[in-house]
Amino acid sequence: MRALTWHGRHDVRVDTVPDPEIVLPRDCIIKVTSTAICGSDLHLYDAYIPTLRAGDVLGHEFMGEVVEVGSKSTLKKGQRVVVPFTISCGQCFFCEKQQFSCCDNSNPAETSDASETLMGHAMGAAFGYAHLTGGYAGGQAEYVRVPFSDVGPIVIPDGLDDDKVLFLSDILPTGWQAAENADIEPGDTVAVWGCGPVGLFAIQSAFLMGAHRVIAIDHYPRRLELAKQMGAEVLDYREVEVLEALKELTGGIGPDAVIDCVGMESHGLSIDNVLDTVKAHTLLGTERPHALRQAIIACRKGGRVSIPGVYGGFADKFPLGQLMEKGLSVKSGQTHMQRYLKPLLDLIREDKVDTTFMISHREPLEKAAEMYRHWHDEQNTYTKIVLKPEMAKQSTAAAPSARISEPA
Ligand SMILES: NC(=O)c1ccc[n+]([C@@H]2O[C@H](COP(=O)([O-])OP(=O)(O)OC[C@H]3O[C@@H](n4cnc5c(N)ncnc54)[C@H](O)[C@@H]3O)[C@@H](O)[C@H]2O)c1
Ligand SMILES: [Zn+2]
Ligand SMILES: [Zn+2]
Repeated sequence: MRALTWHGRHDVRVDTVPDPEIVLPRDCIIKVTSTAICGSDLHLYDAYIPTLRAGDVLGHEFMGEVVEVGSKSTLKKGQRVVVPFTISCGQCFFCEKQQFSCCDNSNPAETSDASETLMGHAMGAAFGYAHLTGGYAGGQAEYVRVPFSDVGPIVIPDGLDDDKVLFLSDILPTGWQAAENADIEPGDTVAVWGCGPVGLFAIQSAFLMGAHRVIAIDHYPRRLELAKQMGAEVLDYREVEVLEALKELTGGIGPDAVIDCVGMESHGLSIDNVLDTVKAHTLLGTERPHALRQAIIACRKGGRVSIPGVYGGFADKFPLGQLMEKGLSVKSGQTHMQRYLKPLLDLIREDKVDTTFMISHREPLEKAAEMYRHWHDEQNTYTKIVLKPEMAKQSTAAAPSARISEPA
């Protein structure tokens, strides 16, 4: 089959790789109909996440049709499913507490050891996300093996297009959990750093949870425009001093809750970020948490800090005193995906959440390497890329160089 494989920093290729097979009774195999590139994939593309190996198949946002089932899968051939990016057994201490991304069974011993050394405990597993999280092949591919298929995938009823439900695989639940973790109270003002897909869904979710105002921060005009369309007030951090602007907008008090939807690769030329960038490039550090530092300093006394943005290791110059002295609470984590699939599918069916507004490009899987370059270098234009394996065959047959995307 064809799949997007990682070969080194900024080197990904669409290769022919062996087809996946059923390995364990609870597995199924799905034929991928749609798969997306995530901001988290950039951390792999930039080689900031350790334990990737040449040839690893990437991709953790995907959906498709069930084509094979193991003897203990609860799925049936022909069903259309969205697969959450977290791989969870459904039976361990953590899964029983609904803390699915912390699953203790899905990351095999030989790969979980490295994560135990780094994090203190073995991490749960995920698709296409290096060997720290299990080394499972990802879904930017024609086919994918789905372990614990009786726990993860959600069956999609007829009549809902892929574009409407694909983001149940990650960014929609992640934006939702980000807002939930901000413990929003009716009337709150919430500030969101980063207007990528996760930030945009966090904005939408914050309003649904009763936020009175959402203030969104980024520097890409197109992404800020999308945030505005979702009802947010926006700040371009290249044009305003963010801390001052937030104080001004909140009568000097600061936002009630802050959400970091940027993660470990903050942009910007602030002194702390320049130092972090030098450290990251000379392997003296892993994180560039400028946005998180700013969020903590901006947050009102007694406020809440939610961190869906991904971090990989140790951060320095961390505003610990500000966090403690202001009495902030912090919630974070990879999303406990399986908790949110059903309720969010219901909201999609009721047209209460819009999932398609951010898709700027739909392209064949064959163009995945090119799309990674654009996703990395042109975030203003490329606000979300969806890859369609079948489109490759159709467009190759019709016109090899056909451009399928609408320009953003
Ligand atoms: N917790 C989870 O389970 C989970 C799941 C998916 C993604 N994520 C993480 O969420 C983060 C966002 O994902 P995404 O897909 O939206 O990524 P993205 O790269 O598309 O978006 C990040 C946005 O942050 C903006 N940004 C950068 N520096 C900034 C700064 N200093 N201030 C304000 N904005 C700034 C960028 O311009 C960009 O628009 C990533 O770290 C990703 O790994 C976490
Ligand atoms: Zn993702
Ligand atoms: Zn488990």
